[in-house]
Amino acid sequence: MIELPDNPTIPYIVGDGIGRDITPVGLRVIDAAIEKAYGGRRKINWKKLLAGEEAIEEVGDVLPEETIEEIKRYKVAIKGPLTTPVGGGYRSVNVAIRQILDLYVCFRPVRYFKGVPSPLKRPELLDIIVFRENTEDVYAGIEWPFKAEEAKKIREFLEREFNIKIREDSGIGIKPISVFGSKRMGRAAIEYALRHGRRSVTIMHKGNIMKYTEGLFRDAIYELAKEEYSKKVITEEDLLREYGGKVPEGKIVLKDRIADAMFQQILLRPDEYDIIVTPNLNGDYISDACAAQVGGLGMAPGANINFETGVAVFEATHGSAPKYAGKNMANPCSFILSGAEMLEYIGWKEAKELIIEGIQRTIEEKVVTYDLARQIEGAKEVSTSDFGERVIEHIRSM
Ligand code: NAI
Repeated sequence: MIELPDNPTIPYIVGDGIGRDITPVGLRVIDAAIEKAYGGRRKINWKKLLAGEEAIEEVGDVLPEETIEEIKRYKVAIKGPLTTPVGGGYRSVNVAIRQILDLYVCFRPVRYFKGVPSPLKRPELLDIIVFRENTEDVYAGIEWPFKAEEAKKIREFLEREFNIKIREDSGIGIKPISVFGSKRMGRAAIEYALRHGRRSVTIMHKGNIMKYTEGLFRDAIYELAKEEYSKKVITEEDLLREYGGKVPEGKIVLKDRIADAMFQQILLRPDEYDIIVTPNLNGDYISDACAAQVGGLGMAPGANINFETGVAVFEATHGSAPKYAGKNMANPCSFILSGAEMLEYIGWKEAKELIIEGIQRTIEEKVVTYDLARQIEGAKEVSTSDFGERVIEHIRSM
């Protein structure tokens, strides 16, 4: 969380494809909630930044230097989805933004909105925030095709030095997970849990098999808890041995689960989990699985955050869905809810609550965009902008 003045400048990137539909609607909803909560005392001064297709059209550069500099300068930003061309063109702008600004936490809260179709009987039991590591792991892109000279050299090195034989037609990927990277994740998740009155932090890992990478992730976070949070964090073992299974006031429980078991747990005992902290690849899977349980990606907000510098880029978690671009059809909830998380991040919690309630009321009256309308009996299907206007009407009436 960081503090900004009452009239902060917050940069935004419209995004490609449906970004052009959802972003303007989202900004209007955010403005309406702030106006209602603070009656003019607080107001965001939105500053448009270029990235993606629009940036190519206007300045011939997919990610202008100025965009990065302005995000660094203002610290908090929000963006729509950006297209990554398949098989050529340019590399992912989303990934570039994360890497350049070292936004090491991918922050994905998942909660249920009453009325959203879900495959579960009791989807409301899930209220989880995934803290996914964003910079390390097999996901970091250190890999070579099997024919590449680098892959050949690595295979030869392993054979020569360690007598490890790898088939000649093997591609090679490297999975680095550091103590530094793991501890800063643990710190971000624990700090968040303490500040927001959450009950537990669960380390999700596959350390039983990948002992020196995922196992290190787990061990480093337990070590961090001992070093820096011994008065506030207890382990599951402490909970049973010293506290008779009852979590003492003001403390949180740090536990860990093997990744495959975690997927069962979020289905079978979702209410026993709260914050999940996990390496990059696990985090990618588990955040989509959690989102699916409460009605899909169209509803799930996200952000990429560096909790040390405070720089945070909030974003819709889905892509640019080119098929629906410019049709005023897409569901703006993921973007709007990312905006709500952004408001909480800058301490404007009242405005966040209004947005959540506004969306809840709109969905409960079955006024929804096409993606939800086709799954809800008796739904009234509306456009992106009409959905936004209805949310604003509810916000104004609260
Ligand atoms: P996508 O999420 O854009 O679309 C998949 C399907 O999901 C769509 O065809 C549509 O049916 C549905 N959908 C997604 N968002 C929706 C919304 N708000 N309302 C209603 N329906 C929605 O995923 P896809 O097709 O894999 O990627 C398209 C482009 O987006 C690619 O270039 C990809 O690289 C990029 N992308 C960007 C992301 C980002 O900016 N953070 C994240 C994921 C993908």
